[in-house]
Amino acid sequence: MSETTEPDESAVFDTPLLQLDLGLDSDVTVLGKAEWYNLPDAPYGGGSIKTRIAKGMLDGAEESGALTPGDTVIEPTSGNTGSEIARLATARGYDVEIVMPDNASGGKVNAVRDAGAEIHFVDADLGYDAVIERCEELIAENPGRYYRPNQYENPDNPGTHEHTTAAEIWEATDGQVSHFVAGAGTGGTITGTGRGLHSRSDDAVTIVGFEPDDPLHAIDGLKYLKTGDHYHPETYDESVVDEKLYISTTAAYDQARALRSRYLDENVPIYDTGRLSEGDIRSQLRVQDQFLVGTSAGAGAAAVAQLDEAGKLDDGDVIVFMLCDRGDKYADIPLWEDYLDESWNLRTSCCKHRTYLQRTVCKYAWNGVSCIQNWIPKSRYHWLILPAPTDQSLRVDCDRRGKQSPPVVTNGDRISSVKPVRYPRVTSWACEW
Ligand SMILES: Cc1ncc(COP(=O)(O)O)c(C=O)c1O
Repeated sequence: MSETTEPDESAVFDTPLLQLDLGLDSDVTVLGKAEWYNLPDAPYGGGSIKTRIAKGMLDGAEESGALTPGDTVIEPTSGNTGSEIARLATARGYDVEIVMPDNASGGKVNAVRDAGAEIHFVDADLGYDAVIERCEELIAENPGRYYRPNQYENPDNPGTHEHTTAAEIWEATDGQVSHFVAGAGTGGTITGTGRGLHSRSDDAVTIVGFEPDDPLHAIDGLKYLKTGDHYHPETYDESVVDEKLYISTTAAYDQARALRSRYLDENVPIYDTGRLSEGDIRSQLRVQDQFLVGTSAGAGAAAVAQLDEAGKLDDGDVIVFMLCDRGDKYADIPLWEDYLDESWNLRTSCCKHRTYLQRTVCKYAWNGVSCIQNWIPKSRYHWLILPAPTDQSLRVDCDRRGKQSPPVVTNGDRISSVKPVRYPRVTSWACEW
């Protein structure tokens, strides 16, 4: 069994509500529920919204006898659920194996590894289904060895939110909450919290769910479900959702960055401290003095802004959305990499070194220019390597994200300088010579 420092499970649930100014037209109160205050002292940005369900599913399995001493806990996951199951289950004395795509973010991979769990990496280019298949293969190879929580089917996932997240929001707002806004990955948050708030308010609270608007999205933890050919999690009961919105990656990132700018020099007001003191909250509120939230929190802010623009909010409304995790989990992607210094990047990312530039995924010709596209294991970047430009400078535009990348320069066969050009995968490029 693994030896790790035990996380304090009393530091899970009852997270604070921050009162945020999103610059809306309507005179409403917007509250963000800051979920990194689940295990806030854990490395790599603390815990997340997934600490709740990791605890809920492990408690449920131990109570039902599905998980017994000597079992190995295994779960396929791209990030937060894996790190939180790894942290809690290893501390309870179980061996843990996490199956992850090899593009999971550095901080999340490191959190799993530091907890003492074993990681099985699966080629991210094979898609997320391959991660689930690998997990099923491992279970089939060793029948009887594993317990798989299975966040996509486990009723304790929405159940935990129904009994904790919904109750906390209802109590902290004295029943004044009018809207609850959350994104869907497994759908556990929106389903469970939505059920809990509907039942407490006699359906008076409007439950607003959002999903990415594009299968090539880069909003961590969310699942593209807009068309019918995607696996629909059993834990996502859409009948709970009163209003559905679709959010672009650009809008999510823009809103996250706007929050950082808004609170660069101003205090973030605390509406409810939850189980913490104000001093404890302030000590974990900022990263390098900046208010940085994760990508799905930015998407939540974008969803609230969309409601406002559509005239769906009334003055006096109280809107709660989830700040699922803190921004330092995303130090190695083009969300916060401009704002965090290299030392922070190196701490959170496992892949910032050129030596990782190893694996050629495809070689292709585009507009007569021969390009090699590399996938860097365990990072989120595709790097596009082009021949050295002759006399003109090279520009590569990341068209789908509307972002301009820095130039990529090679010197013959030796790479003199390479830059990440897209996140996470873009299928078409615009190159100018
Ligand atoms: C950062 C983040 N936000 C949002 C979600 C979506 O939550 P749920 O799975 O409850 O729908 C997840 C799930 O992995 C996540 O990791």
